[in-house]
Amino acid sequence: FQPKTLAGRRVLLTAGPTSEVIDPVRVLTNRSSGRMGYALARAAAEAGADVTLVSGPVALPCPDGVERIAVRNAADMRAAVMARAGQADLFIAVAAVADWGIANPSSTKLKKQPDGQPPHLDFVQNPDILAEVAALPGGPWCVGFAAETGHLAEHAQAKRARKGIPAIVGNLAQDAMDAEDTELVIFDDTGHHPLARQSKLQAARQLVGWIAARLPR
Ligand code: C5P
Repeated sequence: FQPKTLAGRRVLLTAGPTSEVIDPVRVLTNRSSGRMGYALARAAAEAGADVTLVSGPVALPCPDGVERIAVRNAADMRAAVMARAGQADLFIAVAAVADWGIANPSSTKLKKQPDGQPPHLDFVQNPDILAEVAALPGGPWCVGFAAETGHLAEHAQAKRARKGIPAIVGNLAQDAMDAEDTELVIFDDTGHHPLARQSKLQAARQLVGWIAARLPR
């Protein structure tokens, strides 16, 4: 049994990787199973929220009582989020959004050249969805995620400041990636709040409780 700490609240989340087209058979993507975002969507629904999950391509079933919007690339994820962010009370950005898209995707399969010359790809920086939502006047309370390979507190707090969000959840990428368990640290303007190493669902439930206690009415 989970306490209904988010009853009557509208929660929007992103989860999973995004997938940027190179050609009809190749993509540029991030390593993300989507498990943490899906666990959070489930935990928010258990807590009584009305939950919409904008998800990149993952191999996970949609949690009970959650509305899932399936997207592939960052541009589509952004459009799906921006269409709904104004109505949300809380936005939790868990997706591992590709930082770059391909500016010159090929409509036909790129072929290996006889001279061994590799293809030339131009990259474009993708929109920062979380920063855009955070900048919306009267927008939802925003929580970000920061997966780092070291200097967790430093990088997480810098991201929190740069994106202008009240809270960011840090974890070590090498720990969390493809793993069942996770060890999270919440960073806000009062400092850091470490959570125990536990399953992603348990961590998600704890995090939802922490957020619910701070969410403005
Ligand atoms: O600094 P970085 O972009 O890695 O911060 C990660 C956080 O920002 C995550 O919450 C992620 O979901 C979000 N993000 C986003 N759009 C991007 C890149 C990251 O919403 N283009």
